[in-house]
Amino acid sequence: MKQFFYLAFWFFKVKFLRKEIPLQSVIFITDKCNLSCRHCAVYNLENPIMKSYSQIKQELEYSYKKGARFVDFEGGEPTLWQEDGKDINSLVSLAKEIGFFSTTITTNAQNPFEQLQADSLWISLDGVGKYHNQIRGEGTFEKLDKNISLSLHKALSVNMVINSLNYPSIEETLEYVKQNPHIKKISFNFHTPFSGTEYLQIDKEKRINAINTIIKYKKQGYPIMNSISGLKLMKENNFKKRCWIANFILVDGTRLKECTGKTYGVCDNCGFGMASEMHSVFNLRIDTIIAGLKLRIG
Ligand SMILES: C[S@@+](CC[C@H](N)C(=O)[O-])C[C@H]1O[C@@H](n2cnc3c(N)ncnc32)[C@H](O)[C@@H]1O
Ligand code: SF4
Repeated sequence: MKQFFYLAFWFFKVKFLRKEIPLQSVIFITDKCNLSCRHCAVYNLENPIMKSYSQIKQELEYSYKKGARFVDFEGGEPTLWQEDGKDINSLVSLAKEIGFFSTTITTNAQNPFEQLQADSLWISLDGVGKYHNQIRGEGTFEKLDKNISLSLHKALSVNMVINSLNYPSIEETLEYVKQNPHIKKISFNFHTPFSGTEYLQIDKEKRINAINTIIKYKKQGYPIMNSISGLKLMKENNFKKRCWIANFILVDGTRLKECTGKTYGVCDNCGFGMASEMHSVFNLRIDTIIAGLKLRIG
């Protein structure tokens, strides 16, 4: 109930009073990673940074004061974070003590994640078998699949980033998700062409075909997180972006009011589904509001 009223009041302030208040914080806690995926511009193999517990505490408190009530711990691979006996679960507990409603960890699922205590887990799944492996490395799909099969987490979802290598795997990925009892939902994003990864962006025709396929499956009841209104907006990608809905704190401590895409000038080619979902919420699309409430308060 408390969460529902907070969300309703937040919506009133941002929609009708035109205030720009974040609801979510994306905090990059390390850029250390155990993979080096082809589509990624974040990981740092040579000189990885691991933020200190006290720095992350300050960043959580700052984000909370700004208004954010949901936090996503990002990396690098966030499950690698540690400091003097503390691990990622210590950060989850800290966020809850500060007052965040919910915590999320996005992971590549290369290590077992049964012990993770975040409210929701996002596993990055970029296709089935060889499609995932050609982006993330040989054997990564098999490890992910095994670790998912061992999971008892109640809110485990997967995120597929569609690019020029894996778009033929959309339908089999949907079947994989539907048949896997451990996975709640799948969310689709498109590759965002950060510097050096431009070649992985798919052209507009393929993007529209991919979206039509996803909408077709959604109508058949497949467990897809994106709303139909949000998916339709992603076809043209020319809607107004309100990316201040999530504030970002980068691994070097830079505090951004909005997504890194703006800093890197890639908004016109943005592939993040959240941008179109938020636009639909602002336009009071019922299907998106329901999808958003399910995501936020279950
Ligand atoms: C940077 S990763 C960090 C968390 C973790 N290492 C993982 O792979 O899940 C967070 C998410 O960003 C996605 N991502 C990476 N590069 C991207 C890009 N260029 N466009 C869209 N999503 C991207 C990844 O697929 C992953 O789901
Ligand atoms: S596992 Fe995540 S952070 Fe690491 S390289 Fe892949 S997408 Fe980037």
